[in-house]
Amino acid sequence: MTDFKTLAQMRRSHRKFTEQEIDGDDVKLILRAALMSPTSKGQRAWQFVVVDNKTDLEKLSDAKDMGGQLIKGASLAIVVLGDPMQNDCWVEDGSIAAISMQYQAEELGLGSCWVQMRGRGLSDGTSADTVIRGILDIPENYNVLCVIAFGHKADERQPQNEDKLKWENVHIDKF
Ligand SMILES: Cc1cc2nc3c(=O)[nH]c(=O)nc-3n(C[C@H](O)[C@H](O)[C@H](O)COP(=O)(O)O)c2cc1C
Repeated sequence: MTDFKTLAQMRRSHRKFTEQEIDGDDVKLILRAALMSPTSKGQRAWQFVVVDNKTDLEKLSDAKDMGGQLIKGASLAIVVLGDPMQNDCWVEDGSIAAISMQYQAEELGLGSCWVQMRGRGLSDGTSADTVIRGILDIPENYNVLCVIAFGHKADERQPQNEDKLKWENVHIDKF
């Protein structure tokens, strides 16, 4: 098991993946991390859609003009949803669940990348939310926050550089 200090340094965004499928037990561990993540008022109101078929992964890739193409090369994508009417912290709750899944993936030796969908879309004005809703039959009340792409790493990334951390952004006592 990797300690968190190491995990924090090793986690990088991976955008290239091998063809190897992710073991079912690992998928469950990734989802478990999301389902254990903290939420505002303990609501646990997020929803997750797990996608592993090539057709829908390709369609998800095209939900926005830029920055989403990596999804089609992933073995698995987990779409993170929230209901803004039910939960005023749906973005925060979904984000915490998403990064929890990314750290769990890293601990399993898997690569992952956050693909932003909220507020993104196509140049014709169609929102990524609308596109994804159509692909995955998402009920009207849920909004799409992001898609987290997962797979076995096919690209090498350097760990975070300890010397480049922005310690100047940290203020003690007063700004
Ligand atoms: C809110 C958020 C949105 C992001 N959206 C995208 C995206 O749409 N496409 C992408 O390739 N990477 C996306 N990323 C990944 C960032 O580009 C990446 O985390 C950043 O460049 C730092 O690199 P690192 O994760 O390797 O440390 C996103 C990350 C965050 C936190």
